Amino acid sequence: MTKEHNPVDDGYAILHNEDFEAPFRSKIITNEGWLFNTSRRATSLNGEWAFAHDLHFNGLRSKWFQMEPSAPEDRYFPYDWDPFNADTTTVPSNWQMVDEKLYLFEGAGWYARTIRKEDLPAAARHFLRIGAAAYECKVFLNGEYLGRHQGASTPFALELTGHLRDGDNYLMLCVDNLRTLDRVPMRHTDWFNYGGVYREVEIYSTPEAIVRDMFVALVPDGEFNKIRVEAELDGALAEARFEIPELGIHEILTVADGKAEAVIEATPELWSPGNPMLYDLSLSYGEDRVEDRVGFREIRRDGTDVVLNGKPIYLRGISVHEDDDKLGKVNSEEDLDRRFGHAKELGCNFIRLAHYPHHEAAAKKADELGIMLWEEVPVYWKIDFTNTATKADADNQLRELIRRDRNRASVIIWSVGNENPDSDPRFDFMKGLVDTCKELDPTRLTSAACLVSHEKLAIADRLAEVIDIIGINEYYGWYLPDYAEMITVGENSNPDRPVVITETGADAVIPAHGGLEHGKFSESYMAEVYTRQIEILEQLDYVKGISPWILYDFRAERRQNKWQKGWNRKGLIAQDKQTKKAGFHIMAEFYHRKAAEEES
Ligand code: GCU
Repeated sequence: MTKEHNPVDDGYAILHNEDFEAPFRSKIITNEGWLFNTSRRATSLNGEWAFAHDLHFNGLRSKWFQMEPSAPEDRYFPYDWDPFNADTTTVPSNWQMVDEKLYLFEGAGWYARTIRKEDLPAAARHFLRIGAAAYECKVFLNGEYLGRHQGASTPFALELTGHLRDGDNYLMLCVDNLRTLDRVPMRHTDWFNYGGVYREVEIYSTPEAIVRDMFVALVPDGEFNKIRVEAELDGALAEARFEIPELGIHEILTVADGKAEAVIEATPELWSPGNPMLYDLSLSYGEDRVEDRVGFREIRRDGTDVVLNGKPIYLRGISVHEDDDKLGKVNSEEDLDRRFGHAKELGCNFIRLAHYPHHEAAAKKADELGIMLWEEVPVYWKIDFTNTATKADADNQLRELIRRDRNRASVIIWSVGNENPDSDPRFDFMKGLVDTCKELDPTRLTSAACLVSHEKLAIADRLAEVIDIIGINEYYGWYLPDYAEMITVGENSNPDRPVVITETGADAVIPAHGGLEHGKFSESYMAEVYTRQIEILEQLDYVKGISPWILYDFRAERRQNKWQKGWNRKGLIAQDKQTKKAGFHIMAEFYHRKAAEEES
């Protein structure tokens, strides 16, 4: 505020203006601004940021983002937060795990820090990249609103070049985790509504001409002898160089209208769970160069078979959330190693990353370890399928996920949703997402976790017409008491494509943790459910995989009985991520037996 301006008028405007968000509805940041970041040199902005929670969006109303540094005694107008003289929080983090006052907080969180341009590498261009911020992130630099990103689990990039000035630049983020009727997911989920900037924040400093995106994959024609590379280039140069030294590939690509592509004869060693072979490759464009480590494999369906590199496979899976007793939704190498270690111990060759894009490190680790992945966008339960802005949000989250992970051999399935109520708008909305999958990546299979049709007593979701694999969430033994019905559904169903049981399970608390000896929520009841489920599922030849719900107990505020206390207890392992329950051993026996049969 300037001295001659009467701040009281502003004061009343702040109090009475309920259309304060109007200036911040435009400039939606989407995958159109994608920046391929694997291997790029980055300036990390992780660490201490000024932070305040903001339940009433006072920061937007009072324009905190326009404040500049000042000694407190020199500030002319009273203020409710000073981004330059504030408590701090560590980025990446979820505010719920940093401050117990904010455990159930749903509102805005303000993050602020200064970037000195001289501290960045000298470069023609600078891009801000945020790995994930839940749910909406408004970006301000030096008092100017630059744009907003929607979606709690995917990365986004924003060019800062024309906005950075010499000396100090004030970067502020307003991140809110409100649950609303038009978001994706909507306002009702069975997982915890973490908020905040919970993945890495970086600045990439690049030459003028850059590689925006690169997608490399085996041509899925059953020949295993051609590699296709396609790239998006941002610059005026007419050529790019693509190299896979170990395969003797040094290909000059012609660039036209910002695009380049080639199909190159090659017979790489194929990636598979038993042989997770990866190749180092690079794409150079002028002074810019990006690299990646990519596995080459083919995944397709043939009748009710899932076929990897020409051989039918059975997906020995487990579902996982991104949730930790101490970390919340923040990724750590240790947590990933533990997750994959327990999956391997269970005998898994497949993990369903539910219900949203997990950290990009998960797919990179799965590439190295040889574990196939199901990746999913949070089109979960009820969504406003008639809302075009909601559809654009869902489609953009899916495009950001696919662009981020389509070079990951471990990812074999893109899932467009989970347990959605059927309707014409839902069918159109989700078919549109399946079309996006095929547009951005014709090399993978599509799916969704559907429900059994109880009026037909069969697997009969019409979405099955457009997805490659029918995911089925069935809880016979838990939400559905009658195993006999499960047998009837199995017999009544005659799918023309593979079915994967994407969820089944039961809550359980072990006696040592206060659990019952018998009945629902007891470990013995969980054991019975898993035993019966395996007995029945083994009889269904068109079932080509299972990913039981779920590896670990996870936070879910809907769950408040005396055993749940805000956690979903269906984990095969308890929330301590070490105590195994009966279901773990029963599934492990089944999977190890299944693996041995395949090898014999
Ligand atoms: C549903 C849903 C999960 C949920 C689970 C449960 O199938 O997909 O997100 O946690 O069932 O009820 O435990």
